[in-house]
Amino acid sequence: MDWYEDEDLWTGFSEVMFSPERSAQAARHVTGSPLLRFPAGARVLDQCCGMGVFTVPLARQGYAVTGVDLSPVMLARAERACADAGVKAELVRGDMREYVRPGAFDAVINLYTSFGYFEAPEENLRVLRNAHDSLAPGGRLVVDVMGKETYARWAGQPKVVEVPGGQVFMADTILDDWTRYRTEWTLVRDGTARRAALTCFVYSAAELRALFEAAGFTGVECFGGFGGEPYDNLATRLIVRGTRSG
Ligand SMILES: C[S@@+](CC[C@H](N)C(=O)[O-])C[C@H]1O[C@@H](n2cnc3c(N)ncnc32)[C@H](O)[C@@H]1O
Repeated sequence: MDWYEDEDLWTGFSEVMFSPERSAQAARHVTGSPLLRFPAGARVLDQCCGMGVFTVPLARQGYAVTGVDLSPVMLARAERACADAGVKAELVRGDMREYVRPGAFDAVINLYTSFGYFEAPEENLRVLRNAHDSLAPGGRLVVDVMGKETYARWAGQPKVVEVPGGQVFMADTILDDWTRYRTEWTLVRDGTARRAALTCFVYSAAELRALFEAAGFTGVECFGGFGGEPYDNLATRLIVRGTRSG
C-alpha cells in the first residue's frame, strides 16, 4: 500500500489536517478569495476533496460541485458534512490519476497540498492533464501547495502541534536533492503513540509552472496566498492557476 492510500493517515491525524478552524478558514477563502471566485453556477471539480472542507462552502455559494477522492472514509465524511450544511454535491470515489470527465467543468481545484503524491513524475503530470482535459475551454485549474521556497525557511525544524488531549510531533527529511520530502508524524495521547508518514514532491514556483505548461495550460500565474498576493519572500502558500485555452 502506498502512503496516500492509508486511511489511518487521513483519519488518525484529521484533528491536525481538518480542524474546525481550517474549515472556517476555507469558508472565508471561498467567499473572499479572488482565486476561488468563479462564474455564477460554475461547475467545479474538487480534486481530492477529502471531507469536504472546500466542497461544502463552494456548494453553499451556488456552484455545482463534484468532489473526487480515493478514500471511502473521507467521502463518507464529506457526504455527512454536505447533509449537515444542507447543500448538495456530487461525490465520487476515484483516483486523481484516472478521473477525467472531458470538458465537463468550468473550474478544477486541487487544494491543501493534495498534489505531488506519486513517486513517478509522469503520474503527477497526468493529474494535471486530467484536470486540463476535464475543463471546458476557458476553464481554470487552481493548485495550492507549500512552495519549495517557503518550505525551505522552516524545513528540518521539528514541529509540535497541540491537539485535544495530546500532541503531534512532526519531523521532515529532504530527499533527492530537494525534489521530495518525507514527513513523519507521531500523535502522543493517553500514553500511546500513533505514527504515519508521507512522501511528497515539493515544487518551486518555476517547477510547478513548467508542469502546468507541460499539461497544456496557458496564462499560468503564481500567487503567494488566497488573497492573490505575489509569490515572493512573504508567501505562505504556492498557488498556481492556469487556463485551458481551447
Ligand atoms: C491533504 S488532504 C486534502 C483534502 C482537501 N482538499 C482539503 O482541503 O481538506 C488529501 C486528500 O487526498 C486524497 N487522496 C490521496 N490520494 C489520492 C488519489 N490517488 N486520488 C484521489 N484522492 C487522493 C486523500 O484521501 C485525502 O482526502
